Amino acid sequence: MKKILVLASIIGLIVTIQAQEADSIFTIAHRGDSYYAPEHTFAAFDLGVKRKAEVIELDVRFTKDRKLVAFHDKTIDRTTNGKGYIKDKTLKQLKKLDAGSWFNKAYPTRTSKSFKGEKLRTLDEILARYKDKAKIYVEMKNPETNPGMVEEMYRSLKRNGMLSSTRLKRENIVIESFNESSLKKLKTLAPKLSMLYLVYSGDLDKLSDSKITSIRKYANHIAFDYRDVSAHKVSRFKKKGFIVSTYTVDKKADMIRMHQYGVNGIFTNRPSLHLKVRNTK
Ligand code: G3P
Ligand code: CA
Repeated sequence: MKKILVLASIIGLIVTIQAQEADSIFTIAHRGDSYYAPEHTFAAFDLGVKRKAEVIELDVRFTKDRKLVAFHDKTIDRTTNGKGYIKDKTLKQLKKLDAGSWFNKAYPTRTSKSFKGEKLRTLDEILARYKDKAKIYVEMKNPETNPGMVEEMYRSLKRNGMLSSTRLKRENIVIESFNESSLKKLKTLAPKLSMLYLVYSGDLDKLSDSKITSIRKYANHIAFDYRDVSAHKVSRFKKKGFIVSTYTVDKKADMIRMHQYGVNGIFTNRPSLHLKVRNTK
């Protein structure tokens, strides 16, 4: 009888720990709440914050006049009413574009009149608007082919007070990249800034123990494609001291699986769905 009681309390303890771990999984609103609003616009980020995602995520690219703007694709064709490469346009030209109407055409069941006329936003605008409302993850897109991007990122963070010791300690800001040397460079400029190394889809198993140790020297976060992971793989990185996230998880069953694997954070275009999954556990 005593043995059964001890076993029951151990099982109870395990269930409680698992539940606590699941509760602490944070939601990263990928390009804002980009399922319900046009990605990278104030409409999408406002919605992500309204849903109470802990983190909003954005990509940044360089304009012709070397300003950092929130944008994913290399060209403006898919998500604006313009055409061409973003690197060939000045900020003034980009600011004239409509970055919202495409969404109403692409997703007729999720339209809103208010999306029409949404503007492209600079990193400065986004930091100023959201820095006290959510944590912000910023991914530098192709910094390896954009000399000066790392330095401009540093200047933008500084201008917006993101490098104060309180904000750094609270991880109000985390910088991401698939490119190691750019993260290392930024780390030398701002040694206390949190860095997230993004692992390309399919590359997770290529990382040797010594490579993982070398990444850990400059990055305290890491993220993988959710299709590449297992509980064992997540645990391997957590043991090395990484905060582990997976991208980009939009289906309920996959979210639940990621929770079971023990990830710390989930990049999702559907923050409201992930918050629901968290709350029903
Ligand atoms: O930042 C993680 C994930 O967003 C990387 O993929 O192409 O959506 O920026 P992508
Ligand atoms: Ca990204």
